[in-house]
Order: sequence, then structure tokens, then C-alpha cells
Amino acid sequence: MQKSELALSIKNLTKTYWNWTKALSGITFDIKKGDFFALLGPNGAGKSTTIGVISGLVTKTSGQVIIGGHDLDHSWAEARMGVWVVPQEFNFGIFEKVYDIVIAQAGYYGISRKAAAPNAEKYLKALGLWEKRNVQARTLSGGMKRRLMIARALIHDPIVLILDEPTAGVDLELRHGMYTFLREMNESGMTIILTTHYLEEAESLCRNMAIIDAGMIRKQWPIRELLATMEDEVITIDLDKKYTGQALEKYAPKSEGDSVDVTISSKYSLDDAIKILGQEGYKIISMKPKSGRLEEFFLKSTKK
Ligand SMILES: Nc1ncnc2c1ncn2[C@@H]1O[C@H](COP(=O)(O)OP(=O)(O)OP(=O)(O)O)[C@@H](O)[C@H]1O
Ligand SMILES: [Mg+2]
Repeated sequence: MQKSELALSIKNLTKTYWNWTKALSGITFDIKKGDFFALLGPNGAGKSTTIGVISGLVTKTSGQVIIGGHDLDHSWAEARMGVWVVPQEFNFGIFEKVYDIVIAQAGYYGISRKAAAPNAEKYLKALGLWEKRNVQARTLSGGMKRRLMIARALIHDPIVLILDEPTAGVDLELRHGMYTFLREMNESGMTIILTTHYLEEAESLCRNMAIIDAGMIRKQWPIRELLATMEDEVITIDLDKKYTGQALEKYAPKSEGDSVDVTISSKYSLDDAIKILGQEGYKIISMKPKSGRLEEFFLKSTKK
């Protein structure tokens, strides 16, 4: 593969923390430009450490990281220009105003306030924060803070956007709004990489994925191939009223009270089921898998 086709290339990356915790034991993977990629793994797998190295927050122990053709060791500034990472923890000044937080970020990239203004407006609007632009960040809800992190990340038009657990603390309705936004960003050409514990999230957004566990890449796959190896899964969706619709038929729906069980497979996605329910006028209160498809898969694939 041509180097220039790659948004990110990681080779034999290792990280041992000061206390001898071996967080990464030599991981290698490539991500193509324009991809929507999921880094999937359980707690402590090394996802945030990998992302920390890419973003320059964590110094690697050894290995090579190339972002948009620029080696992090030799062209640090160029490599960093092309990528922005939305970390797992909020890291803006809570007493600053929303608009100023986004604009100040542009300053780090040598973009003037005036030049940054159109992007600030565009992304604050796209993420539903424009009305909140003059309030202090501390007054935002958790989900709004998460969206502010994303608006800020986009201000300098990075070619690669990396999101560490982007939907943690974001409610179901907003989550789907965020999915739509991320999909549009990806369709407009941005490479997006996210970490998640949720297979459903990777499934409805991403094309390719790697499973990371105990500091090692276990598998790197197109999502569709992964799903084909899995059993169908039953998801219980709690609605605002009893389900009496017709359009969910292919999901073999089973109604009980205000809940409906739907069967998700490689052919019929959860995302479409949610859309159908919306079209039929149902509001989703909550949902949960009846069987842990991803957990079962982890157990199988990480069995040493
Ligand atoms: N600053 C640090 N100092 C020492 N050890 C660390 C540090 N950060 C992470 N670790 C350790 O490195 C390992 C990988 O952690 P990491 O945060 O990368 O996992 P993760 O996959 O992001 O997990 P989660 O899903 O819980 O966010 C863990 O054993 C963790 O305890
Ligand atoms: Mg993490």
C-alpha cells in the first residue's frame, strides 16, 4: 500500500509506564485515509495509551508512529497538525466561555480569531451549542461538554479525528445525533478513529476495527466480517408505549409491556431498527442487549 494513502501507521509500539506497567507490548496497525475505524477493547486494554502516544500526551517507550506521512519522531509539528484527539477526560477551563474555548484552540495552530470564526460558528451550530456560546463551560451538561470537546477539536480542520469514548455520558437521543454528525464528517473526507466498549457503536459507525487487549492487537478486521462470525443478538428496547407497529417485522419483534425484543444480525442492524421505531412514532427510553455478543466474542478471541 502507498504510504500516502495512510492516515495513520503504527509499528511495534510499546509503552511501559514509570511504575513498570506494560500498557502496550508492540502493537502494529494501519488506518487508511477516509476510514472510520474503531479501536475496541475492555478496560485497561491500552486504548487511551495508544491515543495518548498519537496525541503527544504520552511518550512512547519504542516503536514508530506516522501520521499523514509524517513521523512523530522526526516531524513532530507536521504530524501533530494533521490530527486532533478528543480525550476521555474533559480538559478545558470550566470558567471560560464556550466560544472562547473553541477559538483559543485555533490559536495553538497559529490561526487568528478572525480566521477561526467561520469554523467556530459552523461546528458549534452543527453540535447544537451555538445558543450556549456565551456561557461558562461549567454550566454545560455532561453531554454538552463532550460535544464542546468535539467542536474544539475540529476548529483547525484536522485530517484525522480521534475520539476516546465519545459517547460516554451522552444520552441515547443525543448519541444518535452525534452519530449522524460523525458520519457526515467522515463522508466529507475526514478520517475518524474512535475507541469504544460498545460493539453496537462500532457497528453502526465504523468500517474497520482492531481489537486490543492487554496491550496487544488481537485482530484487525472489516466490521462486516466480524459481524458475520457472530451469532444474532437480541436487544431489549424500552419504549414510551406498547409496540403495535408493523415495520419491525424482519427483526422478529417480541412485545412485553412497553418493551420490545428485536433480533439484530449482520443483515439487520440496530441502527435501522431505531430509525424504524422513530418513524413509527415511538420514543426510546433505554435499551440493553439480552446476550453479551461482544463479551462472548472477547472471551473467544482473547482466550490465551
Ligand atoms: N499514567 C499512567 N501511569 C501508570 N499506568 C498507567 C497510566 N495510564 C494508564 N496506565 C495503565 O496502562 C494500562 C492501559 O491503560 P489505558 O488507559 O490505556 O486502557 P484503556 O484501554 O483506555 O482502558 P479504558 O477502557 O478503561 O479507558 C492499564 O493497566 C493502566 O492501569
Ligand atoms: Mg481509556
